[in-house]
Amino acid sequence: MQLLQDVSALRAWREAERASGRRVALVPTMGNLHPGHIALLDTARAHAETLIASIFVNPLQFGPNEDFDRYPRTLDDDLAALRKAGCQAVFAPDEATLYPHGRDITQVHVPELGDMLCGADRPGHFDGVTTVVSLLFNLVQPDAAVFGEKDYQQLQIIRRMVRDLHMPVAVHGHPIAREPDGLARSSRNQYLSPDERAVAPKLYATLRELAEALRAGGRDIPALETQGMERLRHACFSPVYLRILGPDLGPPQVPGELLIVVAARLGNTRLIDNLRLSV
Ligand code: PAJ
Repeated sequence: MQLLQDVSALRAWREAERASGRRVALVPTMGNLHPGHIALLDTARAHAETLIASIFVNPLQFGPNEDFDRYPRTLDDDLAALRKAGCQAVFAPDEATLYPHGRDITQVHVPELGDMLCGADRPGHFDGVTTVVSLLFNLVQPDAAVFGEKDYQQLQIIRRMVRDLHMPVAVHGHPIAREPDGLARSSRNQYLSPDERAVAPKLYATLRELAEALRAGGRDIPALETQGMERLRHACFSPVYLRILGPDLGPPQVPGELLIVVAARLGNTRLIDNLRLSV
């Protein structure tokens, strides 16, 4: 596995891949890899001969009071996990390599989709994501890129960006990887205290209860959203939002496909999850 840490090494590697005719799939990450990240490589492998992961804790997507400084950085373990999973290359630049002109640079903004849900709660967050992902697409020039459905809104925003800016990258989603008790795997789960960790699976349990109510014929969507928020408060979460929407994050159509999306704080930790169903 090749470790690429500067732009010229990355470009030389990309040229060689192009010359050999191999398709390249990119899996962007912020490192501290868990099995949910590694599983993204399976989808990448289905669409390309060569896999490259990127590891970069992107300061542009963290708010001033968020966890940028304490975000876990575990490069050696991450490289070992990627090597074991058969990844051919890793792009792990430092901040000066990716942002040589500082953080106040050209931004990519996806209107509406980027401003709702997590975008409303974390102003500027998705601009940071779309800016770094465009930069990574420009540098790596992947044929395909894979993103997890755990960050469902992020995936939709990247699809929209690629569509609007005619980026020649096929974007693929990968299903949510969960712990045995249902909690969606996340680097932030390790911030949870033992008591909070015991409560955390109630987030997904609440989504499943709402899905059950919808499948059983429940049609009062605002009442179900309120009921879900109440459940979470009762379990000691501070819910940020809980919405029942269409899979494009637009208004729900019944009968049809629905998406239940949630963000909630447990102590100081912000958790997100979602569940798709058809009714
Ligand atoms: P990060 O949180 O490291 O996640 C990297 C990728 O792994 C994302 O596509 C995310 O959706 C996916 N992922 C994380 N946990 C998952 C799980 N439990 N199941 C399935 N997929 C999961 O998302 C980011 O980094 C950044 O915003 C990034 C896109 C790299 C831009 O900086």
